[in-house]
Amino acid sequence: MSAAPLPSRPFGATGLTVSALGLGAGRLGGDDLDDAGADAVLGAALDAGVTLIDAARSYGRAEARLGRFLADGRRRDGVVLATKGGYGIEGVADWTGAVITAGVDAALRLLRTDRIDVFLLHSCPVDTLARGEVIEALAAAVRAGKVRVMGYSGEGEALAWAARSGRFGALETSVNLCDQRVLDEVLPAAAAAGLGVIAKRPLANAPWRFAERPVGDYAEVYWERLQAMKIDPGPTPWDALAIRFAAHQPGVSAAIVGTARPEHVTRAAAAVAEGPLPEAQVRALRERFRAHDRGWVGQV
Ligand SMILES: NC(=O)c1ccc[n+]([C@@H]2O[C@H](COP(=O)([O-])OP(=O)(O)OC[C@H]3O[C@@H](n4cnc5c(N)ncnc54)[C@H](OP(=O)(O)O)[C@@H]3O)[C@@H](O)[C@H]2O)c1
Repeated sequence: MSAAPLPSRPFGATGLTVSALGLGAGRLGGDDLDDAGADAVLGAALDAGVTLIDAARSYGRAEARLGRFLADGRRRDGVVLATKGGYGIEGVADWTGAVITAGVDAALRLLRTDRIDVFLLHSCPVDTLARGEVIEALAAAVRAGKVRVMGYSGEGEALAWAARSGRFGALETSVNLCDQRVLDEVLPAAAAAGLGVIAKRPLANAPWRFAERPVGDYAEVYWERLQAMKIDPGPTPWDALAIRFAAHQPGVSAAIVGTARPEHVTRAAAAVAEGPLPEAQVRALRERFRAHDRGWVGQV
């Protein structure tokens, strides 16, 4: 693979800059990995030029491990740190203003930092957004200097509402070979409005790994879609095809790969650094999705 450096991009109009490949910390908080294992993934990400890391309150020990890792030396300053919340604070009702305020403070403590670069509301329904309370609480955290950019992470109606609302500086949403609607329906307007966009699940959870339907696995829906789409990756390895497709879509600031393996971060970075897939290949992949889309909505 190429030794080209990982490109960086403006994160919408937020004033932040992010690497085109980010790291999703969803796999860094579980018991299948110890602290040293998490450090190895994070170290591989920084070595590859990754400057965006995405965590969440619900990712087990991920925020705490990330905080410990970033507290070492001068690592924190080189990273755009994103996390998500809206739930999971003892004694505080989920999806209230109070849980946002307490959640931001809890994340600051776990991440061992004095500011969170991007705090995203973690997939709440549109009614919760429209009620206004959580948005106002997040805006107050921005005014207090605890959060730099307000974001929404999710799909469908709530994502569209957030994109139009003028209240958010960032969106996080599924963009991958098997989840493309948002490319036509939301991202053009989001880019025009100066929103930073994080592409989550960029490998579609790597469904090509499964010869048989992975019943109950996170990848099951995408596995079904991939079967229907009958994509021929040609000589390009599946992982490179998928990550280059997601990371180089117009309107995407960064694609965040989720992995517990250092070598998978390194591979993803090398693939993204190779640049966009050839235009004809992207067009063919976009047509495959449109031709087979049977109401394939964005997967949260
Ligand atoms: N609602 C939300 O806000 C939401 C929802 C989903 C995800 N996210 C964010 O998006 C990030 C990425 O999403 P994701 O982890 O669900 O999806 P993903 O990046 O599309 O896929 C991750 C899966 O692919 C595997 N994988 C990674 N690199 C591979 C490679 N080169 N070859 C084969 N398999 C590979 C990983 O396993 P290994 O560990 O073995 O590499 C993992 O099982 C998450 O970490 C999280 O930060 C947010």
